[in-house]
Amino acid sequence: MADVAPANAEATEAWDGPLFDRWVRFRPFVADGLGTHGDVAMAAHPPRPGDRALDIGCGFGDTTRRLAELVGAAGEAVGIDVSERFVEAAGEEAAAAGLANVSFRLGDVQIADLGGPYDYVFSRMGVMFFANPVAALRNIRAAMAPSGRLCVVVWRRKLDNGWVWEAEQVVDQYLQHPEETDEPTCGPGPFSMANADTVSEQLHIAGFEAIELRRNDLPMPMGTLDQATDLTMALGPAGEVLRLWGDRAEEIRPRIASEIRAALEQFAVDGKVRAPASTWIISATAPAG
Ligand SMILES: C[S@@+](CC[C@H](N)C(=O)[O-])C[C@H]1O[C@@H](n2cnc3c(N)ncnc32)[C@H](O)[C@@H]1O
Repeated sequence: MADVAPANAEATEAWDGPLFDRWVRFRPFVADGLGTHGDVAMAAHPPRPGDRALDIGCGFGDTTRRLAELVGAAGEAVGIDVSERFVEAAGEEAAAAGLANVSFRLGDVQIADLGGPYDYVFSRMGVMFFANPVAALRNIRAAMAPSGRLCVVVWRRKLDNGWVWEAEQVVDQYLQHPEETDEPTCGPGPFSMANADTVSEQLHIAGFEAIELRRNDLPMPMGTLDQATDLTMALGPAGEVLRLWGDRAEEIRPRIASEIRAALEQFAVDGKVRAPASTWIISATAPAG
């Protein structure tokens, strides 16, 4: 297990355990849905050939491998993740792709030695889970070269993310976040950086400059209505509450599933669900030195 800040230990257990399993199961949708949001961000703020690039919370390393291609043989891409299982999978996939300029590190971004200095830092949905976001952002900034560039993608508010909002409204009628659970939780959660003012202030306190946020709305492909229902009952806020209730919610799961299915129907065209999804593309720079 990675050396983690005590406050991130439970989230690490969640990411290396049940959440890893769910990401494996829903990878095709996650890769498509997050993929388009990440691609737009990386195209708007690309690394330069020869850059040394860092990918925060890299997961399976899809974006790390893309960074490795963009920086070219003269550059290098490093992915870091707190979950051993993600890091192992990312290393195997990069080796299978035959990429020589990519490597992965295991570590809690809040406290780890990140290596560097990096000219460019990227993250697709990997910066919202730190117990202390300012400490983590400060650690990232300290690993950057003078005038190094940061580009991170985070979810905007749930209300504009119909792909999770509808399911959460349904689950909320039946279950609240349980006070007692044996399941590990994933920290502040995927929507913890949705507030533009809060995240700008966090970056500012961490020492970043030229902070800009751009809203990006792109629908999330979720497969058939049944697949979309499964997805929201496994990932996101509704999935998280159901996971924490575990077997205790077994009896009402069918009713919840049928209500979520009905709520998602508004986003279905020809049997395929494409629900609203909205992110912030955040860019900033490290001081010139
Ligand atoms: C929502 S997933 C995103 C994965 C990947 N960036 C992608 O877009 O497919 C969040 C990732 O952040 C990682 N993570 C969570 N807390 C972390 C921490 N403190 N340090 C490093 N990685 C962390 C998780 O293990 C997980 O792989």
